[in-house]
Amino acid sequence: MPVDGRGSVRGSSASRADVAPLARAVAAAFEDDPIFGWLLPNKRRRPDKLLRFFALELESVVLPSGTAWMSPEASGTCLELPPGNWRMPLRTQALHAPQFAAALGRALPRALITITQMERRHLRDPHFYVPYVGVAPEGQGAGLGTKLLGKTLERANTAGLPTYLEATSERNAALYERLGFKHLGPFTVLGSPPLWPMRRP
Ligand SMILES: CC(C)(COP(=O)(O)OP(=O)(O)OC[C@H]1O[C@@H](n2cnc3c(N)ncnc32)[C@H](O)[C@@H]1OP(=O)(O)O)[C@@H](O)C(=O)NCCC(=O)NCCS
Repeated sequence: MPVDGRGSVRGSSASRADVAPLARAVAAAFEDDPIFGWLLPNKRRRPDKLLRFFALELESVVLPSGTAWMSPEASGTCLELPPGNWRMPLRTQALHAPQFAAALGRALPRALITITQMERRHLRDPHFYVPYVGVAPEGQGAGLGTKLLGKTLERANTAGLPTYLEATSERNAALYERLGFKHLGPFTVLGSPPLWPMRRP
């Protein structure tokens, strides 16, 4: 099944050397995201916190067990965790808890409750998980997000497995619906904006 209607898919998997530029791109992408805006309400401090959070997420969570698909100029990334790896291993939690706590600051309790609620609803069947996909604001709307996500969808197609993610806005959900994802039912946590879990068969 074709996953990219706009031509050939370009994108390669990131290495540790790409963490800094990719963290910058994805942090900028999520600066106006409804969920991160709710978690980190201080707009002045949000960019730095997002940068630290995504650098940790890339380096400690995604690259050790999954793939960060990236554009050649590192302006966007699709983070992919393979089947059986969607939950952060206890060892990683124990090793990196202080750094995540420092990155999130006062948002930590809310973030932990949000993650717990997300995990409770998470698809249990074997699947590829996309925790984050982001394109730096100046590159958005030109097809890059579709292409990067397409790399994960190709893998899922080859493996004959579903892909799962949580959309954080209706506009994002519309993009995922175009790529074959179906809604599983929105939920909110502690009065947060809605999250839309979606599964692509
Ligand atoms: C969502 C995102 C990864 C899509 O990548 P992209 O390269 O901009 O997307 P494409 O050009 O392939 O497709 C465009 C579609 O993406 C969706 N989209 C969501 N947010 C968007 C944004 N800020 N700018 C452009 N498109 C956006 C829309 O459905 C859009 O279609 P539309 O213009 O008809 O509304 C990117 O826009 C982004 O990083 N947004 C901010 C962070 C975010 O919301 N990430 C996803 C969290 S679930």
